[in-house]
Amino acid sequence: MTVSTGPTEPAELLARIPDFEQALALYRDLEPDTAINLSVAENVLVYEDSMQKMVFDHIDLLPEKYIHYATPYGDPPLREEVAALLTKAFDAYVAPGDVFGTGGVGSALECLAFALQDSPREGEAGPPPLKEGDAVLLPAPYWQGFNWSFEQRPKLKCVPVALPTEGADRFRLSLEVIKEAYFKYNRLFGEFPRLLALTNPHNPLGVNYGKPLLDEIYAWVLDETQMHIISDEIYCHSQVRSARVPFTSAFALDAYRRAPERIHVVWGFAKDFGLSGFRTGFVVSKYGPVQRAMLGTSGIEEKKHPMSWFTPVDSLKHYVLGELLENTVNGSTELYTTYAMRRYQELLSDSFEKVRARLVEKKIDFVYTEGDNPAQFFWLDLTAYLGKRKGKEPCAPKAFTPPNDMDPDEQWLFEYLRCAPTEVTLLPGQTMHSPAPGFFRLCFTAYQPDVVCEAIDRVAAALAQLT
Ligand SMILES: Cc1ncc(COP(=O)(O)O)c(C=O)c1O
Repeated sequence: MTVSTGPTEPAELLARIPDFEQALALYRDLEPDTAINLSVAENVLVYEDSMQKMVFDHIDLLPEKYIHYATPYGDPPLREEVAALLTKAFDAYVAPGDVFGTGGVGSALECLAFALQDSPREGEAGPPPLKEGDAVLLPAPYWQGFNWSFEQRPKLKCVPVALPTEGADRFRLSLEVIKEAYFKYNRLFGEFPRLLALTNPHNPLGVNYGKPLLDEIYAWVLDETQMHIISDEIYCHSQVRSARVPFTSAFALDAYRRAPERIHVVWGFAKDFGLSGFRTGFVVSKYGPVQRAMLGTSGIEEKKHPMSWFTPVDSLKHYVLGELLENTVNGSTELYTTYAMRRYQELLSDSFEKVRARLVEKKIDFVYTEGDNPAQFFWLDLTAYLGKRKGKEPCAPKAFTPPNDMDPDEQWLFEYLRCAPTEVTLLPGQTMHSPAPGFFRLCFTAYQPDVVCEAIDRVAAALAQLT
C-alpha cells in the first residue's frame, strides 16, 4: 500500500497558503538578498533601536518555572501589565479582569466571533446571540485576515462596505456608507448584519477615525441596530507626530459607558512592538458571554474549556513578554514599554517623513490628506499604470496563487515590480478587498527608511518604463 506524503518543497508548501500576505511573508526566505519585501505589515523599528539591547540581550535561557503549564489566557501579572499598558494607550481605564490573552489578534477575533454566538444569561444586558451565517460589516479595503477569523471556523459571513474610491471623500469612512450597506444587506437577504468590525487606526489606510465620527457611528449602532462592535486597535501606538486627528479608543467613547456589553476591543504585540512572530493578542471585553468563553465554564452549565487553551499564551510567551513588560529603563523607574512607545513615535514619524518625501520626489501617487495618520502604511495609487503592459512579461514562475478574483492588470503590475531588476514586493490592494483595482499597500516599517527609499527609487524606475 502506498501512503501519500504531503508536499515538502518550500515553494509547494507556500502555494497552499490561501492568505496572499502570509504567503509573501514566508516567501521572503526564498527571495534573493537584493529583494525588498514591503508587502507584509511588520515593524523592525523598535527591535533594532532598543528592544534587542535593552531587553532581549539580558534574558537568560530558561528558568525552570517556564517549562511548566501556564494559564492559557495569561497569568494575573501579565493581564495586569497589559491592562496598565492599554489604559495608557486608550486613555481609558482597562480592568485586568477584562483582558484575555490568546495566540495573536487573529485568534482574539476568532474567539470573539465564537463567544458572541453564546447567549447572555437571564438578567444580563446584551442583544440576542449571533448565529452561523450572520453578517459582519467591514469597511473595505480591510485586512484580509478578518475572513479567516470570522468565516473559517465561526462561520460568520464578512460583508465588505465599499468606501468611495473617487472624489473628495475617497477612501473616507462615513456613517452613510455603513448605513447603506446595512440596509442593502437586509433588502438582499431579509436579515440585518449583527456585527460591525472597525480597524482604528486603519489597515491599510492608516487613518485614525475622529471622535465625532466614532460618536456618530457608535450611537447609531447602539440605538438603531442589534449589532455588536469590535474595534481592532492593534495599531493604536502607531501614531506620527504630525497626525491632526488623534487616536480615540472605543473605550474612551461615551457609547462604551452606555453599553459596555456591545463593544469589544482587540490589541496585540505584533505591530506596535514589532513582535509578529510571537503571535500574542488580547480580547478586552466586559460582556458576560465573552468572559465565560475566555475563562471557561464548569459546574451546572455546559462545561467549556477556555478558548485560549487551543491557541494559548504559552509559557515561553509569558517569560519573554514578562521581561519586556517589567523591564525598566537604565536604572530609572520608567517602564521599558513606555520608553519604547515614546521612541517608536519618533522613529515612526522620521520614517514616515523620509518615505513620504521620496514618494513625492519620485511622483508616485498615494492616498493621503495632510494631517492624516499613516499607522505603518502608504496606500499607493498606481491606477495610472493599469493596462500598460506594452508586451513586457513579468518573471515566472510564481510560487503562490493570488486571489482568484484579482484584476489581471493589478496582478501583472504586482508581478512586474516583484521581478528583477526591481525586486520590490507590494501588497496588491485587491488582496484587502479594495473596491477598485490599482491600489497597493506599502508597509514603510518593514525595513529602515533608507531601504524603503531605495525600493521607491526602483519602483519609480520600473513605472517610468511603462509610460
Ligand atoms: C488589523 C489587524 N488585525 C489583526 C492582525 C493580526 O494580528 P496577529 O498577527 O497578532 O494575529 C493584523 C495583522 O496584519 C492586522 O492588520
